[in-house]
Amino acid sequence: MEKKIPQKSPYVMEMEPGTYAWCSCGASSKQPFCDGSHKGSGFTPTMETIEEKTTKAWCGCKHNKSGSFCDGSHKDL
Ligand code: FES
Repeated sequence: MEKKIPQKSPYVMEMEPGTYAWCSCGASSKQPFCDGSHKGSGFTPTMETIEEKTTKAWCGCKHNKSGSFCDGSHKDL
């Protein structure tokens, strides 16, 4: 399965401390987080632990080089 591209820009969100499962396949309807839609696709969510309240730019294009956050790769899509 090809990755889906929910949006070609990050999801900038104010985050509370906790553990989050970033959707890597793009199929989740709860972007930018996993809702289990990856089942059977070969993709798995990327887990991130956030220690303190902060603003994060979650990758929305699913084409970042690693991890869960925007690294500017969406500009090349
Ligand atoms: S939204 Fe994916 S790299 Fe920026």
